Amino acid sequence: MNFRELAEKTEGYIIDRRRYYHANPELSQQEVNTTAQIIADLKEMGLEPKTFESVDAYGCMADIVGAMPGKTVALRADIDALPVCEETGLPFASINGCMHACGHDCHISMLLGAAKMLSENKDKLKGTVRLIFQPAEETGYGAPALIRAGVLDGVDAIYGAHIWNVLEAPYVNIEAGNRMASTAEFYVEVEGLSTHGSSPEAGIDAIAAMSAIIMNLQTFVSRNNSPLNPLVVSVGKVEAGTRWNTIPGKAKFEGTVRTFDKNMLEEAPKVMSRIIENTAAAYGATAKITKFRWLVIPVINDNENLVRIGQNAVKKLYGEEGLAPMMTQMGGEDFSFYMEKVPGVFGFIGSHNPETGKIYSNHHEKYDVDEDVLKRGAAVYAQFAYDFLAE
Ligand code: NI
Repeated sequence: MNFRELAEKTEGYIIDRRRYYHANPELSQQEVNTTAQIIADLKEMGLEPKTFESVDAYGCMADIVGAMPGKTVALRADIDALPVCEETGLPFASINGCMHACGHDCHISMLLGAAKMLSENKDKLKGTVRLIFQPAEETGYGAPALIRAGVLDGVDAIYGAHIWNVLEAPYVNIEAGNRMASTAEFYVEVEGLSTHGSSPEAGIDAIAAMSAIIMNLQTFVSRNNSPLNPLVVSVGKVEAGTRWNTIPGKAKFEGTVRTFDKNMLEEAPKVMSRIIENTAAAYGATAKITKFRWLVIPVINDNENLVRIGQNAVKKLYGEEGLAPMMTQMGGEDFSFYMEKVPGVFGFIGSHNPETGKIYSNHHEKYDVDEDVLKRGAAVYAQFAYDFLAE
């Protein structure tokens, strides 16, 4: 089986599908048409997709059953888009107000490409390849829901990959160790006393208190945490006030925490509450965390055998030089929930190419990929599955 050649031949199909899905993004837990189209694409290959109504999730799965009995390997692509207004100027840019700014359109098309190659070569397949088109990755809802629906039943191993701007095209990264972080969301409310903008002494300025809290929260990272322990606290949204000459009595903000440290799961909300409540008190205000939730656990490639199969798959296809190292990422991925249940490995497909202007990070309104890498991503999916089953 020469998946490098097969992927070359399938490239037109993969790019065509990528552009279709790119032009028609849907938000997490709203992937109605996306799911319908994936089902249609899979049926065209003679596959019989199953859906996940029982767990209130879109997306689908399908099995490619090989001619010879064997193990089952799962390949996963996530399918949801983001509430980002696209500014790429691409001829197939989305116009519906949301965007595949995280590149999940590429994941769908790469997995469809792999599905096409594998389903056309079922006679040479020993075992079953399960294709998982997962909804709602961005909200962390998708993977746990699909696990409840039984997508991992009978699965011996799982592989997934993310197209990623930090990595140069057309390299693939599969390496052992910490890959993506635990991710939490948190929400804080600050309460002061509103007053006229000309009389600050008559009130308690919620904006001043909130500003101080946001600045002090960084001491959680710099003073309460070891410098050797990766930790990120970022505030992404603040809200306060109604007009220029009123000091508001209420303010709120929200943000995220990223870590690989299991102790932090309990520690982070405790330390942050201390900083938040006491900083507010220093200003005569009160403040509290109204919600703190860990969305995903970390992605850690700790299965040596699967890391080896993944790396060898890339080497077989594109030589040693097809692989590139990449630092641990503080982004989160709900793929970690699959890895908690069955042996798994997670890779990255490089999409960064300054020569063609592909310089924007994932989630940016101008995020775009070097489409030359899509065939590689598809080939690695297929080769990984084939090799795992062959062993
Ligand atoms: Ni993503």
